[in-house]
Amino acid sequence: MKNEKLSADQSELARPGSLEEELLQRLDLGRLPTHVAIIMDGNGRWARKRRLPRVAGHRAGIKSVRETVEVSARLGLGVLTLYAFSQENWKRPRAEVDTLMGLLKEYVRKELDTLMRNNIRFRVIGRIGDLADSVQGELTRAEEATAKNTGLLFNIALSYGGRAEIVDACRSLLRSGQDPDDLTEELFGKRLYTGDCPDPDLMVRTSGEMRVSNFLLWQIAYAEIHVTETLWPDFRRRHIFEALVDFQNRERRYGGLNPDEGTVKPPAALRG
Ligand code: FPP
Repeated sequence: MKNEKLSADQSELARPGSLEEELLQRLDLGRLPTHVAIIMDGNGRWARKRRLPRVAGHRAGIKSVRETVEVSARLGLGVLTLYAFSQENWKRPRAEVDTLMGLLKEYVRKELDTLMRNNIRFRVIGRIGDLADSVQGELTRAEEATAKNTGLLFNIALSYGGRAEIVDACRSLLRSGQDPDDLTEELFGKRLYTGDCPDPDLMVRTSGEMRVSNFLLWQIAYAEIHVTETLWPDFRRRHIFEALVDFQNRERRYGGLNPDEGTVKPPAALRG
């Protein structure tokens, strides 16, 4: 059966008769997650399987980033957050860190036009001050250039740690003289790097690892988690569609009952 609700932009995401089209047809476009967060993992293993240096995996991973961002924008998702570099990643060999930073600068420089054309707002979350000045400069330029775009919000997590984010939120509250008795979960959430976004409804992790790895610890309290064996450099639109179909097959109860047994209405803070 044809998914009549597909816009022209969305129909172009899949060739007629392809697996992608079949998955797209199964999607209920009225029930897409608002915020998708992705732990991009498996670049090193992808390279090792091909007897290539690890950095070749990171380079190949850029193609997956490009496709994921474009598909998310075309589908009309509200927010996409990609975990590109954790605080722990600073422990990797200097040459690998330098390559990752170089790739990041190259990505931002090359993709700015595409971000603008697709009305995408680009934003960095994490302890940005840890990054080299030249990297910060490139990122800030892209943030400023795209600040007024109104489509997809593309967050990229760099020098990011979920616990560090919570500590940063506490510091910000203490500095502002917050009265402890007036502190609520909602007020706390607003102090996080993602304070102006709805929480992720769906978290995707590639390469089969069943870990959260210090990513968006507060925000994923009620997120559905989809783990795919696919290594990040092989991640393409079909894997995004599979994750979305899986998401739509879950029953989200927010600690309540299933809809047949009672009314399930998440609190306002949990509605995407
Ligand atoms: C995890 O693979 C991936 C990373 C640490 C970096 C992700 C970065 C990119 C995809 C490229 C840069 C991103 C942008 C947005 C330009 P891993 O090296 O931990 O893989 P392994 O577990 O197989 O060793």
